[in-house]
Parts: sequence; structure tokens; C-alpha cells
Amino acid sequence: MEENQKVLTRNWEKVDPKEITSYRKVGGYEVLQRVLQMNPKDVIAEVSKSGLKGRGGGGFLTGKKWELTASSNVDEKYFICNLDESEPGTYKDRLLAENNPHQLIEGIIIGSYAVGAKKAFLYVNGNFHLAQFLLERAIRQAYENHFLGEGIMGSEYSLEFELFIGAGAYICGEETALINSLEGNRGEPRKRPPYTSESGLFGKPTVVNNAETISSITWILEHGGTKYSQIGESGETGTKIFCVDGIVKNPGAYEVPMGTSVNDIIYKYAGGIVDGAEPWFAQIGGSAGVLVPFGTFGAIPAYPRASYVPIGSGAILVISKNQDIKELMLSWANFFQRESCGKCVPCREGTFRLRAIIERLKEGTFSKNDKEDLENLIWTLDNTTFCAFGKFSVIALKDVLRYGFCEELK
Ligand SMILES: Cc1cc2nc3c(=O)[nH]c(=O)nc-3n(C[C@H](O)[C@H](O)[C@H](O)COP(=O)(O)O)c2cc1C
Ligand code: SF4
Repeated sequence: MEENQKVLTRNWEKVDPKEITSYRKVGGYEVLQRVLQMNPKDVIAEVSKSGLKGRGGGGFLTGKKWELTASSNVDEKYFICNLDESEPGTYKDRLLAENNPHQLIEGIIIGSYAVGAKKAFLYVNGNFHLAQFLLERAIRQAYENHFLGEGIMGSEYSLEFELFIGAGAYICGEETALINSLEGNRGEPRKRPPYTSESGLFGKPTVVNNAETISSITWILEHGGTKYSQIGESGETGTKIFCVDGIVKNPGAYEVPMGTSVNDIIYKYAGGIVDGAEPWFAQIGGSAGVLVPFGTFGAIPAYPRASYVPIGSGAILVISKNQDIKELMLSWANFFQRESCGKCVPCREGTFRLRAIIERLKEGTFSKNDKEDLENLIWTLDNTTFCAFGKFSVIALKDVLRYGFCEELK
């Protein structure tokens, strides 16, 4: 992507993530200064105009989410940035924090102001040590420079800000489990409704936004929602970071306009396929992602989940024809068994049994009964679990069956 078209990564390498002065040199916190003179409703209107959808996987409209919390008359509200990011192969949120922590913090302050929150939390995965270090430092600098705390930049708006270090559990990326964890409870999802916009942290209206979503906010307020809405295609606006891995020449994180095909992400951005390798399929969205066979790489990842290629976390793993599919299936099953929070029986038991069956498949002791059980388990996990984790655990397996990628399961 051309340098001047970038939104999220535009100042990577220009900014020293350790120094607020360096961020100030590229116009940092100037958007906040202007926003503090705007009516919060106008700030939300600008975000709504942009068409920005949440980058945490669900693709919910950010302006709409902010509007829901802002419209509540309750005085105590919270704004939470979700930087739990535990989906295998996904590291864009961590990179955003490591390369430009103040861009994220400025976005959180703007979001908090827009919805009327007096306290913001940044929930960071406990395994991200460099990001933690840089964020802690950046928050301290923001306080010292009056971008946080009492009467921000001489305005009447005050915001308290807390960095919360999670333990690195996958389920704590789910917003209600994250809220439970923040409250000091077990990181398990809550029943919805009520939705977090009306009853979230400590039972108060709360916005939870992904770190990439928030990192787009300063650009949108600087250039206007309309300009942002003109980037992208097919009803999907703005830019998105994809993390590309597997048999590509240049694995890495690439910011691309929405509406870019899998093919272009692999060949134009990640340098194409390594010499001598033959692509079989790509998995889009981490271990919870769909499989896209090689012949259909022209597909365009999009929100929502019902689309042919849901974006999910934005990871793209390109798999070679030499890959042992059973090994890959076992790695998915291991991941979901380990990360199941254990709250509901179908997932706690189901992921365990699923893993055992796939292990037998890999070892060559897979029976006819196993095949039947596998189909039943997939249905159970897909349809009966308490939260979306159950569904996530069988997305790729269903595609293995659909495309006949595993001989024994045909
Ligand atoms: C099992 C599970 C794991 C999730 N993990 C993450 C995560 O690591 N980061 C994230 O931002 N959202 C994650 N989400 C989505 C969040 O629940 C929530 O929708 C998101 O943080 C909202 O932000 P957005 O509107 O900016 O996308 C997860 C959801 C589920 C069901
Ligand atoms: S589906 Fe899994 S992760 Fe979700 S509540 Fe049930 S046990 Fe926990």
C-alpha cells in the first residue's frame, strides 16, 4: 500500500515508541485537542460516517456501539481497549502498541470523551512484555503532559486510565470474559443480554473496542469520516492489517485497503509463494478461521461472519500441499482444548473428546464409531455451547470435511 494511503501504520518507523515528543512531532495529540472542543455527539457522528467496523472479529459498527453507550443517562461509564489478542498467527494489535502506543492511547481518550466515560482501561495480554513496557511508559508520559488525568489540556474533561495485565487466556479476548477478568473474577463469558453497552464493567454502560479499531480513530477525526469511508470496497471501509504466514516469501503484517482479495494479499503484499512450494489452501482468521482452497484465492475477506470469507482476526496462513492435514487438525484441537474456559459442558468435554479422536486419526487407530462421534461432536460444539468459542473450535474442521481434505474423513 502507498505510504500516503496508510491509516494505521502511517507513522511506524517515523515515531520512536518510547518518546511522546516523537509522537508530538507527527501531530500527535493535536486531534485530541480539537476533539475536546467538539460536541461528543459530533465526534460519534464522524466515526459513524466513516463506516468503521470493529476489527476484533465481529465487525460491529463502531459509531453505533459508541452511540449506544453515549445515549445512556447513567453517570458512571467505562471505555475498554481490548488488546488480549491470543488468536494463533495474529499479532497486529501487539504491533500497533509496540510501534505507536500513543496513537492507541489518543484513540482511547477520544473514544472515552465521545461516550462520556470517566475511566478507561487498556486490557493487555500478559505475554506481550515489550508492548506492556511501552504502554506503561506512554501512559505515564500522557499523564505528565496533561493528556490524561484532571482537566485534559485545560478542558473540563477528566479521564483516569489504567493498564490491566491479563494472564494471556484466549477466552479473555471475548468481551464479557474480559470484563469478568477486569473485575477480578474468573475469565468466563457472561450471558447476553444485557449487552455491555448497557451493563458492562461493574454493571455500568461500557464500550469494548479492539486495539486496531481504536488505532484508526485519530486518522478518522483528522481527515473526516467521509474520507475514511472512501477507502476500501464492497461496502467495507478503511484499511485493515493482515498477518500473513506459511509458505509465503515475505511473512509479516500488511496494512491493506478493505476489499483486497486473498490473492492480492498473498502475491502483492507478502511476495507470493516460496519457490518450489505448491499452495493447497489458506486459513483466514487464525485457528478459528475458514479454509479457502487455492483455486478460490480471488475471494475477498469481509465482515460479517456469514460472508464466504469472514475476516476474523485477520491472520492468513498459507498451507502447502505437503502439509500433513492430520497434524494441522491436531494443532487446532490442542489449542481449543487447552483454551476452553470450562464453564459449559459441551465445550469443556467436547473439545477434550474432539482432540482424542483426532489424535487417533493421526495415529491410525481411528474407527468407524470415531467418525460418527466426530460428526456428532462437531454438531454439538457448533450448536450448543454457551459462547462462540464452541463454534470457533470446529470452523476449520467443517471445512476439512466440506472440501474432502482428509482421505479418512471422506
Ligand atoms: C472466543 C472469543 C475470543 C475473542 N478474542 C478477541 C481478542 O483477542 N481481541 C478482540 O479485540 N476481540 C476479541 N473477541 C471479540 C470481542 O468479544 C469483542 O467483540 C471485540 O473486542 C469488540 O471490539 P470491536 O467492536 O472493536 O471489534 C473475541 C470473541 C470471542 C467469542
Ligand atoms: S463455549 Fe467454551 S469457552 Fe465458551 S463458555 Fe463454554 S466452556 Fe467456556
